[in-house]
Amino acid sequence: MTNAAANDVSTVTESTHIGIIGGTGEQGRGLARRFADAGFAVTIGSRDAQRAEDVAADMTGIEGSDNRTCADQCDVAIIAVPWAAHADTVAELAGVLAGKIVVDCVNPLGFDSSGAFALAVPEGSAAAQAASLLPDSTVVAAFHHVSAVLLLDESLDRIDTDVLVLGDDRAATDLVSALASSIPGVRGVYGGKLRNAGQVEAFTANLISMNRRFKAHTGIRVTDIDDVIGAPS
Ligand SMILES: NC(=O)c1ccc[n+]([C@@H]2O[C@H](COP(=O)([O-])OP(=O)(O)OC[C@H]3O[C@@H](n4cnc5c(N)ncnc54)[C@H](OP(=O)(O)O)[C@@H]3O)[C@@H](O)[C@H]2O)c1
Repeated sequence: MTNAAANDVSTVTESTHIGIIGGTGEQGRGLARRFADAGFAVTIGSRDAQRAEDVAADMTGIEGSDNRTCADQCDVAIIAVPWAAHADTVAELAGVLAGKIVVDCVNPLGFDSSGAFALAVPEGSAAAQAASLLPDSTVVAAFHHVSAVLLLDESLDRIDTDVLVLGDDRAATDLVSALASSIPGVRGVYGGKLRNAGQVEAFTANLISMNRRFKAHTGIRVTDIDDVIGAPS
């Protein structure tokens, strides 16, 4: 399969059911909204089923459930909980996530008076930690740099950014790249093996610094690949 096929949305179908663990948060709701707009079945999960149902009720085309049910019923799960809750949340769901693609967008960051900074993670990255806790799942790292503010902005019908997609399974990174590319303006770009996810997660601290300096919601674009995978839509 060529890289061009990585952005072929036909590698996923509208019946692909996306479940978002921690989906009541900003990032989860933002991704849920964009994937629902793209025609996918989407469920947001929560520790509290009623909270997920209430949040989903305020959105269009999205269901809500407790995290376990969400993880059990979806085809592709996205982990969107805070870093502090990452290991426990992922470990608790290992059984129901077995055999599935699990997308990790968690950025292990600290904040102090100087702004955001990357935290040291023993496994090398949040995504690598997920992979170690989910031996029977296929973990992919993606969506670290896309701003929840932009995802949730009703006035934006496109978001101009590339999404770096990292993982060790080619079919899984292709599928997640296609999911990313289903959001108008977004282009999923293969970004390397999972062992290189740490610096992608850490780079979010740089983007947050730029956001503060420039009063912006920065993203990234990768150059010199338009001829290979196509220009952003
Ligand atoms: N915000 C962004 O722009 C952005 C961009 C890229 C990546 N991310 C990453 O996406 C993840 C989520 O970000 P966010 O801004 O959406 O975070 P958030 O709103 O603080 O949290 C997301 C959800 O996680 C659940 N949660 C909170 N504490 C928990 C705990 N102790 N145990 C289990 N679940 C807990 C909550 O859902 P319930 O209370 O309903 O269970 C909450 O709604 C983070 O890891 C972040 O690094 C964020």
